[in-house]
Amino acid sequence: MSIRANYPAPIHGEHLVLRPWDRNLVNQMARWGERGFPYHAFDLGSLRDPAQAESMLRWAHEPGHHRHFVAVEDGVAVGRVSVNLKDTSGLYLWSVHVPPEHEGQAVCRRMLAVLMRWLERTYPTRDFILSSNSFAEHAHRAYRALGFEIIETRWHHDKELADQLWQRTPNERADIADQIRFENGRWEVRAHIFRRKRGTHMNTSLRQPAHLLS
Ligand SMILES: CC(C)(COP(=O)(O)OP(=O)(O)OC[C@H]1O[C@@H](n2cnc3c(N)ncnc32)[C@H](O)[C@@H]1OP(=O)(O)O)[C@@H](O)C(=O)NCCC(=O)NCCS
Repeated sequence: MSIRANYPAPIHGEHLVLRPWDRNLVNQMARWGERGFPYHAFDLGSLRDPAQAESMLRWAHEPGHHRHFVAVEDGVAVGRVSVNLKDTSGLYLWSVHVPPEHEGQAVCRRMLAVLMRWLERTYPTRDFILSSNSFAEHAHRAYRALGFEIIETRWHHDKELADQLWQRTPNERADIADQIRFENGRWEVRAHIFRRKRGTHMNTSLRQPAHLLS
């Protein structure tokens, strides 16, 4: 099935445009800066391997419940986000990722706002849901500004994070020590479930200008 059947025309708004993954955007994302632990699961350095890049591109175009978008500003890939259209709890946003070189410019808020406005027009009866590890504080500030509220907090086994935690020293784990626990023979992380009711006001401006961010 052609990708056109699954995706809308590019979605414009907030000085950026949301597009499905393509080769040019994959090449750009392969060169994004990386954060490493504990955000390693988002890093896209593996796309520098041409075979991995092709396989991820095929994955991103698979028909099914998920749509994968890249936020592009003046031709430059500045963020990405995916949505599960069929999750029973709501339109489920995931893989919200802005690389370090583009952070602090409200890309996260702006791309989510553009995506959610389109989703509200296309699926007008559904609310939004996402889950986030409790240490991801920058993300939470953006989610709150967009009208998300925490509806539940729970301990969660995040396999990718747990795999890394086994290899990290207590010193390396110190920054997130309050947000993780070792329980019943495995690592768990505290995770928040956020919900946004459709139509809730969205603020896409930063509270703090980017040049003042440390
Ligand atoms: C979380 C993430 C998507 C935020 O992207 P972003 O485009 O920088 O977000 P925004 O510009 O909308 O900023 C969100 C908040 O973080 C703050 N912030 C962003 N970068 C910052 C930095 N380097 N230093 C200090 N504050 C920063 C912003 O000021 C804003 O806070 P405010 O509401 O007080 O103004 C990005 O940092 C990221 O990809 N992190 C790793 C993956 C991740 O955590 N994803 C979310 C998983 S649920």
